[in-house]
Amino acid sequence: MPLTLHRVTKAFGGLVAVNQVSFSVRPGTIHGLIGPNGAGKTTLFSLITGFYKPTSGRVELDGVDITSLSTSARALKGLVRTFQGTMLFPDQTVGENVENGMLATIRPRLLDWLVETSGTKAMKCAQTDEILEFAQLSNLRHAKARDLSHGQQRVLGIAIALAARPRVLLLDEPFTGMTAGEKDRLVEMLERIRQSGTTVILVEHDMRTVMRLCDVITVLNFGKVLTEGTPEEVRRHPEVMAAYLGTSL
Ligand SMILES: Nc1ncnc2c1ncn2[C@@H]1O[C@H](COP(=O)(O)OP(=O)(O)OP(=O)(O)O)[C@@H](O)[C@H]1O
Ligand SMILES: [Mg+2]
Repeated sequence: MPLTLHRVTKAFGGLVAVNQVSFSVRPGTIHGLIGPNGAGKTTLFSLITGFYKPTSGRVELDGVDITSLSTSARALKGLVRTFQGTMLFPDQTVGENVENGMLATIRPRLLDWLVETSGTKAMKCAQTDEILEFAQLSNLRHAKARDLSHGQQRVLGIAIALAARPRVLLLDEPFTGMTAGEKDRLVEMLERIRQSGTTVILVEHDMRTVMRLCDVITVLNFGKVLTEGTPEEVRRHPEVMAAYLGTSL
């Protein structure tokens, strides 16, 4: 199991946002994390990637306790997230934004990176080419990030995360605000990410997409795990339907 949570809890004052959550993510899968607004999904991402330290419990990667590691140390180990809102440098080009993403993994060679030689420049360029092609953004390489459509900006956010060479990629509502066509293209891209061997944890409210993509789904409600199973098992679970009553499942 690359990533395992053991009874992870996070309290904000009196509010227990994540409450004794335990689950494992199998390598090479797309693992869905769903639940109503405020269920604790984004907080759990922050606990997995080190933005928050848990009040109690632990996070393990490959059987090693990483609970006390910083976000950058976890990124070097391959845990990389995107944010619920789009986080880009709007005045930089698409290509420059992707290059920024590489910084997360080249800390030990930061000086080489900053004092740019022709060798490092060529390497950056080749990696950027590869990622832009993968994300189908090559034709927008020299466009300013701010000039992209909302959907293209969301895809660029994922391309920046891919530049850090994640082993486990955590995506927080990547489909928000996308058109049907953009959603189809992103579904196909996430399938290619899975094929490449990268594990994905997907937080998403769009149930059709979640059911289509995920191998396993963990359902959170009020900070606790309500159930876990295949899309079919989760869809038929009576408490899941009750938790989502009034929303589209
Ligand atoms: N920094 C914080 N300080 C205090 N309370 C917080 C903080 N972050 C989150 N919370 C609270 O913790 C609970 C879980 O929030 P979280 O953002 O993790 O939910 P979520 O499942 O991601 O919801 P959504 O689907 O709306 O994004 C909510 O009640 C929220 O108000
Ligand atoms: Mg959230």
